[in-house]
Amino acid sequence: MADQRIVVALDVSTTSELKDLVAQIPNTHCRVKIGKELFTSVGPLAVDICHAAGLDVFLDLKFHDIPNTCAKAVLAASRLGVWMTNVHCAGGADMMQAAREILEGQAHRPLLIGVTVLTSMSQQDLQETGVERDLEIQVDHLARLAQQSGLDGVVCSAQETQRLRQSLGDDFCLVTPGIRPSWSARDDQTRIVTPHEAIKNGSDYLVIGRPITASADPQQSIAKIVAEL
Ligand code: C5P
Repeated sequence: MADQRIVVALDVSTTSELKDLVAQIPNTHCRVKIGKELFTSVGPLAVDICHAAGLDVFLDLKFHDIPNTCAKAVLAASRLGVWMTNVHCAGGADMMQAAREILEGQAHRPLLIGVTVLTSMSQQDLQETGVERDLEIQVDHLARLAQQSGLDGVVCSAQETQRLRQSLGDDFCLVTPGIRPSWSARDDQTRIVTPHEAIKNGSDYLVIGRPITASADPQQSIAKIVAEL
């Protein structure tokens, strides 16, 4: 069976950069993530280019809106045929439930994932938004709310996976960015974990960008990560 736990973050903004990158990503070992930069620049064509290369797409647009609008955006994502998409848990249980319910009965149902607290946020950042409780407690609280609302999983820091795996069980999908193989640069990521550690801690999918996309030989970087897993 193919092992596609690597999700390559396609953080580029033009069709030609996207095509160059996609040509170097083997669909036997990888899926891809399209975020706000690429989707805002290239639009649904970006999804089509990945699908034409046989790559499953995580559409990472982190929807956060009133329940009706958020649900309709998730429905539009499902019509693009993406494998996974996501919403902000901070939008609340009604919003998450509406997003989940609109997918029921659809011909294609993407995995629906919640974003708890962005890993870029510190305790102080959280406090400034009016949330006084401990950051870890807030992450756990939002992940549980996502599970109760029927979501399939959450995006979380690879340093949170062990704790969340224990409290939320084996069937809840944990998607983790902030992954750095020992041989690659940290870039602007601070709380990093190696691919091997992330899987050991209970991650289902590893979102990896620059260690692959900024390397001189993306195919070789992927092969090294696959060997490590
Ligand atoms: O290049 P790098 O491996 O750091 O890319 C990580 C990807 O995961 C980027 O697309 C980034 O936006 C995304 N991401 C993240 N941290 C989060 C959520 C998403 O790094 N908490």
